[in-house]
Amino acid sequence: MRKLIIPVLLGTNRKQRNSAHVAKWLVGEIEKRSDIETRLFDVKDFVFPQDDYGQGLKDLFPEWRDTIISADGLIVVSPEYNHGYPGSLKAVLDLLLREYIHKAVAFVGVSAGPWGGTRVIESMVPMVRELGLAVTFSDLNFAKVQNTFDGEGRMLDPAFESRAAGFLDELVWMATVLKWGRENVPSKYHQ
Ligand SMILES: Cc1cc2nc3c(=O)[nH]c(=O)nc-3n(C[C@H](O)[C@H](O)[C@H](O)COP(=O)(O)O)c2cc1C
Repeated sequence: MRKLIIPVLLGTNRKQRNSAHVAKWLVGEIEKRSDIETRLFDVKDFVFPQDDYGQGLKDLFPEWRDTIISADGLIVVSPEYNHGYPGSLKAVLDLLLREYIHKAVAFVGVSAGPWGGTRVIESMVPMVRELGLAVTFSDLNFAKVQNTFDGEGRMLDPAFESRAAGFLDELVWMATVLKWGRENVPSKYHQ
């Protein structure tokens, strides 16, 4: 069976962002598996015009557009900023709409505090619902992320390996079912 295509979106452009350690580590975990093909997108690489926003700009970012068109799901790695998600992440997600419909999304929350981004994940759920994405119920939470990686981005807590495996297993299930649905159940949203 063809691998599922599930890109990872790193959701902050902040200098010295700890979320980058998380996203890169997770891509490494995904690359150990035989069922997912991934690539890392970084909101830092999306340079937007100052006077426009949204789907009208999608052709400025063809790699993102074409990857999401062919994707079966998406992983969003977001830090918690004042209990919400960064505007830079929202601007990237808002580039597309129809391209996301009936695909799976899974969330990775990252925080300096003790809650592992649970609040930012809850705040993203209604937003991605409007994009047509279907949210998994297994999140990956990095609380006190500054203690979870060393300065070079090496993972310090071996417990995250099995947590990531469970998180990805659930996403694979959802993405597989939705892929089957897109291919076999008629919808006005896709062929
Ligand atoms: C504008 C801003 C707001 C933040 N708000 C929160 C917060 O609400 N809860 C929290 O646990 N950490 C908060 N933090 C700290 C981040 O969780 C922390 O920087 C963590 O490392 C993840 O973000 P990073 O990828 O930018 O490093 C905030 C950081 C910034 C820059």
